[in-house]
Amino acid sequence: MNVSVMNRDPGSMPELLLVVNKLSKRFGGLQALSDVSFSICKGDIYGLIGPNGAGKTTLFNVLTSLYQPEMGSANFMGHQLTRLKPHEIAQVGLARTFQNIRLFANVSAIENVMIGRHVRTKAGVLGAVLRNRATLEEERAIEARAYELLEYVGIAERANDIARSLSYGDQRRLEIARALATEPKLLALDEPAAGMNPSETVVLRKLIEKIRDDGVTVLLIEHDMKLVMGLCNRVLVLEYGRVLAEGKPSEVQRNPSVIEAYLGKGAAGQGAAAVPQTIAAAQEHKEEAQ
Ligand SMILES: Nc1ncnc2c1ncn2[C@@H]1O[C@H](COP(=O)(O)OP(=O)(O)O)[C@@H](O)[C@H]1O
Ligand SMILES: [Mg+2]
Repeated sequence: MNVSVMNRDPGSMPELLLVVNKLSKRFGGLQALSDVSFSICKGDIYGLIGPNGAGKTTLFNVLTSLYQPEMGSANFMGHQLTRLKPHEIAQVGLARTFQNIRLFANVSAIENVMIGRHVRTKAGVLGAVLRNRATLEEERAIEARAYELLEYVGIAERANDIARSLSYGDQRRLEIARALATEPKLLALDEPAAGMNPSETVVLRKLIEKIRDDGVTVLLIEHDMKLVMGLCNRVLVLEYGRVLAEGKPSEVQRNPSVIEAYLGKGAAGQGAAAVPQTIAAAQEHKEEAQ
């Protein structure tokens, strides 16, 4: 059995949702992902961390079929993700947000969510053009659900405002609402707290927990270590496209190679007093030093 599955809650048998096996992706001479393997179970908030350029976003791009890997597989509830077309990814239950926000900037918040919802509809894009009675009813249902999702992420009062007029934090939450509109089983968030202030980050943390409690498994790329360590039940650390560590947050943040990756060479060998106890502390040290 897969090791990371065995290490979870010993009392219950967790259900595997995503099994990634030896994924590799190269850009010219650069090995962006190298033999990356891990698994995510239903109910996880699974953290993905690593220095800039480690390959985190590339992993999302491979999982969502934007890039084809040279090697490896990603089995998501019986579907081989790497064999699907990008537009089929949402249909099998995987949704994502982007590190660089990708909203329709001049379209209202609610319409941005409705666009996300269209992948689920029978009428689809052609129906949206033909607009017969059935599609009009469907359109009303889509709008109602989109409004619910804006309420869910806490920005319903901005429903009719165009996306680019929203604060950065609200745009990130709008992206989450749009991803949720596809009714995913797995929601992959690429640095959702980037650009958020501390109080927005607290709200985001609660939202991610609510999403998990409502039955959506979460894969989270995040630089805010306090957020990652407090929120995730497992963490994968990438460095130069390779898996540096995988495990519970408490294990990962004590791992000497992980401390070294964040603090620099020699940091883990300086003796217990000099070694920060957590990566979060390590990160603060680093930020203070800059
Ligand atoms: N489309 C691309 N073409 C060429 N190089 C890329 C491309 N996407 C990512 N890279 C490179 O792959 C490496 C990993 O990038 P990325 O996955 O964005 O890292 P992270 O998200 O961990 O910061 C980086 O060196 C980056 O420059
Ligand atoms: Mg990235």
